[in-house]
Amino acid sequence: MEYKLDKIMISREKIASRVREIAAEIVKDNGMNDELVIVGILTGAAVFLTDLVRELPEDMNVKIDFMSVASYGNDTKSSGVVRIYHDLKNSIEGKNVIVVEDIVDSGLTLSHLLKLLEGRHPSSLKVCVLLDKYSRRETEVKLDYCGFQVPDEFVVGYGLDYAGRWRHLKDIKTVVPVEAK
Ligand code: IMP
Repeated sequence: MEYKLDKIMISREKIASRVREIAAEIVKDNGMNDELVIVGILTGAAVFLTDLVRELPEDMNVKIDFMSVASYGNDTKSSGVVRIYHDLKNSIEGKNVIVVEDIVDSGLTLSHLLKLLEGRHPSSLKVCVLLDKYSRRETEVKLDYCGFQVPDEFVVGYGLDYAGRWRHLKDIKTVVPVEAK
């Protein structure tokens, strides 16, 4: 089906102010001295992560790493296996880690990913998501930092895509099907 952009669900101003608040929460919880590894899940979390880290104080001990994963399964059900397309560059053993994700929907991808990362023995492992589509959750995932709870509507922009498109939008928008002519 073909889609077009519809309404703004979350404006750039609201995103920017929430990103600042989340950064402040992270500083409060982590302190300035302990090394903090921020792990971005590609590609969706890239825009959020780059804004978030620039709200952290200059003298905070922050490292950034990225991972690209997909949850294996058939069309509707995830099998419990996470396929890694691109792994972290550095070991997270003994490190304080925050995983940054764009949106949690069923929660399957994130819960599989967290199990995988826990097996690498970080000192702590937290989760920061921009959007939480809670009504669609199939498995419980603890979200330590969350930008916004959103209704069950497909959204794009600020890193989120439909078929690879619209990640570059400054606002988060809904999409609607293009009427067949
Ligand atoms: P989950 O395993 O069902 O939680 O899937 C999470 C992934 O689904 C996210 O990382 C997104 O890639 C994708 N996703 C879920 N809802 C949306 C949406 O509204 N817009 C764009 N991507 C979405």
